[in-house]
Amino acid sequence: MRVKMILALTATLGMLSALHAQENKVYFNVDQGDQTISKHIYGHFSEHLGHCIYGGFWVGEDSPIPNTRGIRNDVVKALKDISIPNLRWPGGCFADEYHWMDGIGPRSERPKMVNTHWGGVVEDNSFGTHEFLDLCEQLSCEPYICGNVGSGSVEEMSKWVEYITFDGESPMANLRKKNGREKPWKVKFWGVGNENWGCGGNMNADYYSDLYRRYATYCRNYGDNRLYKIAGGPNVDDYYWTETLMKKVGGQMQGLSLHYYTVPGTWSKKGSATQFDEQEYFTTIGKAFHMGELVAKHSTIMDKYDPQKRIALIPDEWGTWFDVEPGTNPGFLFQQNTMRDAIVAGLTLNMFNNHCDRVKMANIAQTINVLQAVILTKDEKIVLTPTYWVYYLYKNHQDATLIPVKFNANKIKYQGGEMDAISVSASRNAEGKINITLVNIDPNKAQSIAGVLNGVNAKKVSGKILSSSKVSNYNTFETPNAVTVKEFNGAKVNGGQLSVSLPAGSIVQLEIQ
Ligand code: AHR
Repeated sequence: MRVKMILALTATLGMLSALHAQENKVYFNVDQGDQTISKHIYGHFSEHLGHCIYGGFWVGEDSPIPNTRGIRNDVVKALKDISIPNLRWPGGCFADEYHWMDGIGPRSERPKMVNTHWGGVVEDNSFGTHEFLDLCEQLSCEPYICGNVGSGSVEEMSKWVEYITFDGESPMANLRKKNGREKPWKVKFWGVGNENWGCGGNMNADYYSDLYRRYATYCRNYGDNRLYKIAGGPNVDDYYWTETLMKKVGGQMQGLSLHYYTVPGTWSKKGSATQFDEQEYFTTIGKAFHMGELVAKHSTIMDKYDPQKRIALIPDEWGTWFDVEPGTNPGFLFQQNTMRDAIVAGLTLNMFNNHCDRVKMANIAQTINVLQAVILTKDEKIVLTPTYWVYYLYKNHQDATLIPVKFNANKIKYQGGEMDAISVSASRNAEGKINITLVNIDPNKAQSIAGVLNGVNAKKVSGKILSSSKVSNYNTFETPNAVTVKEFNGAKVNGGQLSVSLPAGSIVQLEIQ
């Protein structure tokens, strides 16, 4: 009898400790934090590549698809609903072979070119500077223009800035007026080249640094327009590039870009966007987590030269990169988008939020029909991908104050290592509302969170969730709402205690008051 009781007690204690081990402990220092999560972390990227611009944003004025001056109304509405803060254009690799003067004036007279990087298709330049800036005005977002260093001249870049921003009598301002735009536009974000270690000229860091200084000198601030100049930054873990630019360019740039893509396989066999097993899922997520290490290490180098953090680290190309969908043009980079992509987006945006002292802007690649797109289009049809819904869930972080978070997460073991089962970030807005975004990376198990809210007496919690029965699920043109956001009732708050049960493979947003 006694032995039986002891055995039963031991079993119960064992279960309790197992349960305890399953709980993720998260501390939110709600009354602390002085860093702003710049809204520009939630930026997007649009290149003349595949059907991002043509068919994605632009259908032309004569299209039966509802549009405003050639720009799709459904796309504008969808992007406004996630409060898109900025849009990068015209590339990517395309930027360093783009000559902006080919894209102004009457469309029928614009010269055509071959888009050598992306499918060798004919680019008719019908979407140019005026169309892009009209798009940004329709979206109420800031333009981020990337100038051509690789094959363009200093004069060409300098004149582009003058054409867009000079208010008064000048050759370029007069040309702009002749082309129908009397008043200049405001443009803040200005990229001086793209991937200049690769498609943007195959330069070395020293040579590009010198070139950057020369190009940037002639990108003038006209009137009260102030350019925020962004240098072409390192590829992945090229720390020498960062060190060189910090040393040689320093305060002549306001931002340094960083490019890193999540590729589960190799560049020649990346893996399917929709057909993947559990091992490939974890490999993908593990590689997405690598962004955290990259941001931390590049930031450490930047800290050495810029301890006051005046120069931003800007991952202006990031996201998943899989094999193209079978039967589509390999040069168009069209891929589907599953819950796995949403989880990559959720944990990456949490990492950017948590590094907002240095990361002040980021751009997922790319907005429509290319790589990790938030929108897919087919003629008049539109699909909002799971990644779109992550931006919808995270939009309250924009320009809010980062709440410092510390946590002990359960670990997931997989072939290749170990990773946290959850990802978290939190912020406080101007009215004092707390916004928390949580990702359960585990595709099989729910994760419970025991949260401690230091410095607040919380009374109310409401939530939204993005989840699906499988992490490989996605939306199609036939079933556009298969994966979408729903109300979430799995969180409870009481004073300083928060408990959440996160379903397997899900992303949750909580608002606490
Ligand atoms: O986003 C696709 C391409 O990836 C971009 O054009 C280039 O900058 C990067 O290599």
